[in-house]
Amino acid sequence: MCGIIGIISRNNQNIVPNIIDSLEKLEYRGYDSAGIAVINNNGKILRERAVGKLNNLKNKISLNPINGTIGIGHTRWATHGKPTEENAHPMMSTNIALVHNGIIENYEQIKNNLIAQGYKFTSQTDTEAVVLYLQSEIDKGVSPREAFRNMLQIVEGTYAFVAIFDLMPNILFCAKNKSPMAIGFGQNMCVGSDASSISGSCDEIVYLDDGDYAEISKDNVEFFNLDFYSIQKEKIKVTDDLVNCGKGNYEHYMFKEIMEQPSAIRKTIQANTISFNFFDDISRILILACGTSYHAGMVARYWFERYLNIPTNVEIASEYRYRSPIIEDNTLLIAITQSGETIDTLEAIEYIKEHNHTCKVLAIANVKNSAISRVADFVFYTEAGIEIGVASTKAFTSQLTVLAMLAFCKHQYLLDNLRNLPTICEGVLCLEDKIYNLAQNIQNAMSVIYLGRDNLYPIALEGALKLKEISYIHAEGFAAGEMKHGPIALINDEMPVLCLCPSGRMFSKMFSNIQVAQARGQNIVVFTDDKGALLFDCNTVVLPDICEELAPILYSIPLQLLAYRVTVLRGEDVDKPRNLAKSVTVE
Ligand code: AGP
Repeated sequence: MCGIIGIISRNNQNIVPNIIDSLEKLEYRGYDSAGIAVINNNGKILRERAVGKLNNLKNKISLNPINGTIGIGHTRWATHGKPTEENAHPMMSTNIALVHNGIIENYEQIKNNLIAQGYKFTSQTDTEAVVLYLQSEIDKGVSPREAFRNMLQIVEGTYAFVAIFDLMPNILFCAKNKSPMAIGFGQNMCVGSDASSISGSCDEIVYLDDGDYAEISKDNVEFFNLDFYSIQKEKIKVTDDLVNCGKGNYEHYMFKEIMEQPSAIRKTIQANTISFNFFDDISRILILACGTSYHAGMVARYWFERYLNIPTNVEIASEYRYRSPIIEDNTLLIAITQSGETIDTLEAIEYIKEHNHTCKVLAIANVKNSAISRVADFVFYTEAGIEIGVASTKAFTSQLTVLAMLAFCKHQYLLDNLRNLPTICEGVLCLEDKIYNLAQNIQNAMSVIYLGRDNLYPIALEGALKLKEISYIHAEGFAAGEMKHGPIALINDEMPVLCLCPSGRMFSKMFSNIQVAQARGQNIVVFTDDKGALLFDCNTVVLPDICEELAPILYSIPLQLLAYRVTVLRGEDVDKPRNLAKSVTVE
């Protein structure tokens, strides 16, 4: 939800450029505002903040340079208080500056106590209550270390904190609960929201766990648990994929990631092995996920019931635990997540673990050592590589690849088809001209309808999500058979209706649904194959032939390209769409 960074130079160099570089890598986590605070050579805390994208902060710093050998930075996705400079982190008081990712649930009680003591608030954020609590401790003569530890005893909620104190100017104080945090060892000592933000100047990384607290100096890191007993943490070598996560020759991360999909699918197949009897003791499958990952789970339900003959439910994670669900014994919970940090999914897993100890948790995640991968009993990683674009693309098709490997573990002919899929996907990526023309057709639409049936119904939902989340055009996916029960009233000659209709068991039903739509509107576009195209007398986008079970993976790619092209035509920010963030770590 927000990106945080803290850096100490090991050789007394100015770390402001390093903090800005890390914030550039963290900007995908939130870009409502950005800020930095350092302790300068006179021991004074200096701060600079700016509303909007990181460039605004960089411009301010170029006009009013600040220097320091220890500092913190933040990119914000607003939770409490509008995206204004007053609400931009770092939050600061006389002796302290602090950045925070998460939500403090008891901040109002803390804030009211402080106001009663005469402390003045300047923002609407929950984080400022933490800073002024620390200040109130310092004002009582408590040391920074004790103040920080006392604060950790009273706050409730989710957090990744990094704080600097002018009274102890050589230590970064940090603590983690539910929000991600990694500490890096290298030419600088770093702490950040994810590994990629600190990998540029670090050789080894430690991932903190919930309840961990650390004090980072330029030559050492001390780790403690919440009882403040010293603990040891395992260091992990920084890998190349963490360091090389730039755009290369592409204009946007999203386009680069769309084009990387054949390779991502191929690597995901090569990296995972699923045994023939993996599901032998499983009587029921429950899939929990959010957003695009939820759509992947919807596709998997068709596959699991058809090819594993196991009853399967798919639930939106943020809804699941609040409806008092019945959890049957020996249910396999499959949590699907790109980031591995989505709080809604993480909390749903915790709920199931608390309510039925016979259930096992399988995570399908793209980020190694992420919170969800660490609480799961088993993990199958997608090998999509770092996904920076907020709209998930290569992680989605890689999730579908793992789910297909699971569903087809007893059907060799389908696994053989899956191995051929990356090459077929390369063919779809050559549809650029056709997709561009279609993008011109819909770039000014008020709304767009997507239709699909069976395992392409979730892809209709996913195509609509891709379009609306980056182009801001309203779009809605429907099960095609459902149109006649009301939504067909929406269709007129202006309304683009995009239909997914590959050859296969549902072709004739889908063909009829499209005829009904065509009788009411003339802006109908059908995504189909050569054989299907012969039967339609409307605009078609012809995709390569594909085994119908794998059509969901293949047919999602042109819809990703379409959303991308429309967004570029509309001049919107493809990689950092408004109001969104890559990793949603608040409920
Ligand atoms: C993807 O295009 C969306 N930005 C979003 O719905 C995302 O899929 C969702 O927030 C779940 O994230 P996760 O896969 O990291 O758990």
